[in-house]
Formats: sequence, C-alpha cells, structure tokens
Amino acid sequence: MQSREIRKQFLDFFKKQAHVIIPSASLVPKNDPSVLFTTAGMQQFKSYYISKADAQKDLNSLNVASSQKCVRTSDIEEVGDKSHLTFFEMLGNFSFGGYWKKEAIEYAHELITKDFGLKIDFISVFGGADNIPEDKESADIWKSIDSSIIIKKFGREDNFWGPTGEEGPCGPTTEIYVGGIEIWNIVFNEYYQSRDKELTPLKIRGVDTGMGLERLTFVTQGVSSAFETDLFESIIKRIKDISSVSEEKAERIVSDHIRTSVFMIADGVIASNTGRGYILRRLIRRAVRYADILGIAPGELFHVARSVILKYRDIYPELAKSSERIEKEILAEENKFRKTLREGLKQFEKGVDSFILFTTYGFPIELTEEIAREKGGIVDKDKFYKQLKEHQELSRKSSGQKFKK
Ligand code: ALA
Repeated sequence: MQSREIRKQFLDFFKKQAHVIIPSASLVPKNDPSVLFTTAGMQQFKSYYISKADAQKDLNSLNVASSQKCVRTSDIEEVGDKSHLTFFEMLGNFSFGGYWKKEAIEYAHELITKDFGLKIDFISVFGGADNIPEDKESADIWKSIDSSIIIKKFGREDNFWGPTGEEGPCGPTTEIYVGGIEIWNIVFNEYYQSRDKELTPLKIRGVDTGMGLERLTFVTQGVSSAFETDLFESIIKRIKDISSVSEEKAERIVSDHIRTSVFMIADGVIASNTGRGYILRRLIRRAVRYADILGIAPGELFHVARSVILKYRDIYPELAKSSERIEKEILAEENKFRKTLREGLKQFEKGVDSFILFTTYGFPIELTEEIAREKGGIVDKDKFYKQLKEHQELSRKSSGQKFKK
C-alpha cells in the first residue's frame, strides 16, 4: 500500500465514524507563541480542550481527524537511523468532549489490525505516578477487545503526554507498538498543566491521538527504514543521481533536512540567525555539509528540493504555489554558507572562538560542535552562550530597546 492510500485510508476510516476532516494547519503556529513550530496535530485544536472555543460551532462536530505537518528537531542528531525525522505527518483523531477511552481504543484496534492488517507487538498504558492514578480503565478496555494482548505499564516519562509549549491540556496515554516501534500515541486529555506545572482536572475530557505517517508506512510496507518507503524513494533517488559517493547516512540526512526545509519555507520561514529562521538555517547548512560528503556539486541541492515538491505537491498545494521561492531560498542559503564555510573552517583550524565563528562566519554553534567532534575536540558551549547573551544585551542597549519582563 502506497503512503497516499495509507493517509487516505486513515482519514476515510474516521470520516465513516462521523469525524469531520480538517486540513493541516501551518507549520508556524498561529495561536501558540510559546512554541516555534507545530509539533503535534492537537496544536491547532488546543482551545477546544479548554472550553475556550466551541468545536461544534466552529468545526461542525465534536470529533475531527487530520493529517498534520509537524516539525521536531530535538532529535536532529539521531536522523540517519531507521526512524528519526525532523519533519513528519501526524495522522490524528480528536474529540472535544465527544467520545472517550472505549471508542478511541476500539477505533485504533480496528484500524491497525483490520484495515491495515498489522500485528500489534504490545500496547502500553499509564501505570500511575506523582499522585496521578494508574489508568486501569484503558487496560481493561484493551483486554476486553483482545484477551491475549500484551499490556505494559510505564510511568510519566513514557505514558503521559503534554502540554505543548508552556501550558495546556495533557493526560495519560495508551500507545501501540508494531514492528518494534511505537506507532500510535493515544492521549486522554483530562488535566490542564499550568506554567508552574500544577495539574487541574479539565471540565471537558478530550481525546488526542497521533500516529506518524512515515512510521506507519514503514511498518505497513515491510521495509527496513522510513527512508525506504515510497515517501522518500524519489528523493533518495534524486540524491543518488547527483552524488558521486554513496553513503547511506549522509543520503538520509540530506533527504530529511531538505524535505523539512521545503515545508518550512512554503509556510513562510526565512533563514536567519534567530528563532525559526535559525532552525531552517541550521538544517540547510547541515544538509550542505552532508551533500559535500556525497560529492554533490555546489549549487545542486535545489534539485533535491524539487524532488520533494514533486512528491508532495498534490497533497500540499502550498508547495507547488511557492516552488520557485523555495528553490531560490535553498540555493541562496547554500551559496551564503559556502562563502563563509571555507574561511570559517580555516579560522576553526586556527582555534578561533566558537562565538566569532558564529557572529562573523555564520557557523551555528551545533555545526562548530560537530566539526570539533569529528576532529576529536570539544567546544565550550557555556562560554558561547554567555558571550551570546552579553552580545544580545549590548545590542539591545545600543538600539535603545527596553527590556521586556
Ligand atoms: N499529541 C500526541 C503526540 O504528539 C498525540 O504524540
């Protein structure tokens, strides 16, 4: 089954169960300034869990489903193994005071075992922690559906999710493992976590689920990594076409980082030294370094961006709409980086401070760290951040801006 059918089958299943299908929100969150990127499907629906908005009125239903573009870069160093990615599509079904645990678990079981024909390795439930009770109800529901299912109980780290950003809805989860990886996270939002980490029960109990399309496709297609699914096939092929060296990890990193960059630029992110722009810059610059390992000629990375656009433009028309701008931005950022890379590397060899490499040569601290690691050295990150803070304070003072509390 191709990824296109998998995505469609997920959404069709929930449509049949009277869910309204909602399009993906932008990668740049509109109503949550505490996070840089959309990291979960529930983000665009956050206010419906806390009764600040009326889902029935706004969305025409208490139950919805979506395939949401997400970016998570906290595991960027892990990209290159079989399943870590910085961009993914999250398939999710959501309920804002509509159905609860029984229906959510029954839907998930039916979809995974019948529609997708997959075998569940085991499921996990919340075992209780920090005065939050164990989720016996979910375990009982699973047992009533399949008495032979293996149930594992985990703590707060593994089976309690949320909030996104600094505060918001959160709750215990039940998670489904297939083919040795966790594929579906089902969250029962029944608490609100405040900024000082206090939990209070929510008036409306909500369901929030998330299943990575790439992981689901990976186990459904029976391949050995996300990069061998049809989602990456044409992108990796394009990389191989323009490479002179074959190196699996570098190919995976280039495909992942350029794919993420394409989606970010389509949603309006521009490479810069701060915030979202910094994350984009870091991704493109890291892709350039791995493109060099593959022997991809300078100025050729935009071909990889083009293959991403071709793969996804039917599903996400914003890519087709801004294809020219995306390719230009990637090429411009690559060129900018190349100009400084050679000189920066020379300075690095001379032992120039990581802060100067950042301000004068545009080397993200993580890049300096990676280069240092390759050469068996280390970087004093604390010193770097101290210098950065002093620099920011100085420039704020000289521009006459007042500090905001
Ligand atoms: N919001 C949950 C997650 O991101 C489903 O895993």
